Amino acid sequence: MSSRLLTGIGELVTWDEERPVRHDAALVLADGAVTWVGDAAEAPAADDVLDVDGAAVVPGFVDSHSHLVFAGDRAAEFEARMAGRPYAAGGIRTTVAATRAAGDADLDANVTRLVEEMRCQGTTTVEIKSGYGLTVDDEARSLAIAARHTDETTYLGAHVVPDGAQPEAYVALVTGAMLDACAPHARWIDVFCEDGAFGVDAARAVLTAGRDAGLGMRVHANQLSYGPGVRLACELGAAAVDHCTYLTDDDVDALAASDTVAGLLPGVEFSTRHPYPDARRLLDAGATVALASDCNPGSSYTSSIPLCLALAVREMGMTPYEALRAATLGGAASLRRDDVGHLRVGARADLAILDAPSAVHLAYRPGVPLVARTLVGGRSSA
Ligand code: NIG
Ligand code: FE
Repeated sequence: MSSRLLTGIGELVTWDEERPVRHDAALVLADGAVTWVGDAAEAPAADDVLDVDGAAVVPGFVDSHSHLVFAGDRAAEFEARMAGRPYAAGGIRTTVAATRAAGDADLDANVTRLVEEMRCQGTTTVEIKSGYGLTVDDEARSLAIAARHTDETTYLGAHVVPDGAQPEAYVALVTGAMLDACAPHARWIDVFCEDGAFGVDAARAVLTAGRDAGLGMRVHANQLSYGPGVRLACELGAAAVDHCTYLTDDDVDALAASDTVAGLLPGVEFSTRHPYPDARRLLDAGATVALASDCNPGSSYTSSIPLCLALAVREMGMTPYEALRAATLGGAASLRRDDVGHLRVGARADLAILDAPSAVHLAYRPGVPLVARTLVGGRSSA
């Protein structure tokens, strides 16, 4: 077993309970995992040594929400929004048409391109949803393509009702033949519970059908207005409910009392001009918060967790370390994973080496490419 020593670490974020952040530290990586953490002065010998010369090292980002299987873009829609037109869920259908018309190789190349962008910016685990196919074959092939890139695949046949379909018949398809075709390629099921997408009864039917087929539950809700989606997710014990932009006190109480992780996606509010979600209110209430990119061509065409960190700190009331925690440990909680999102002994050797002396710089220097190197399973990937 060959080992690698990372030493000269000016600031090391491990999220160890006693010492979450340490200075002048070192790490040993072997067999794709962290095998030793301690002071640089006490580091053991290893087969290979990498001295990072005072740089900060943080856990690789866990991006728990993205939609990368699509074709085309919606730059014109974004341009119109910036001139005052509101965002509407119906824009999803534009991408559905482009995605259905694309070949598998083009869809796969798009995922490859975006995953590579993510890696260069420190993301080492990514969840990828379907949701731009919305036929049995197009959803199944979207998930088969996503599964080439990640184990965290999510079946989102219930993204919107496609053109020409009748809502009740479409929900029957999503919970019937489409689920049968997609479940073998998916770990999770998701539904967009919002005006213009699916109501609470349809969302419940979709989630429980997915659960009965062995999938974990995730929900998109309370993105564009107040609604019942967050409380439904908590009631059913979904792993995550993402967006959480419009929350009542009851919604916040339900999140705080549950194991359901509130996923906040500030790239969406950047691009739709809705108000940013109030992370402070959720944290103060005791809810678990994740930060994710929601990378998609409509509401949030960014692959950058560092941008999300900067927005969360500037606009959502989080401290730099709370934001980093939400994009690492929070993402891992959202995906029910304990092997990623931290750098304690036993963790996967997934980490980002920063071109900066502390993790604060990720928010303090927005727009600057501060991820010098990303290691996935101990190997350089970007
Ligand atoms: O997470 N909320 C629903 N789905 C995506 C938007 C997708 C799109 O506009 O194409 C989201 O924001
Ligand atoms: Fe989304």
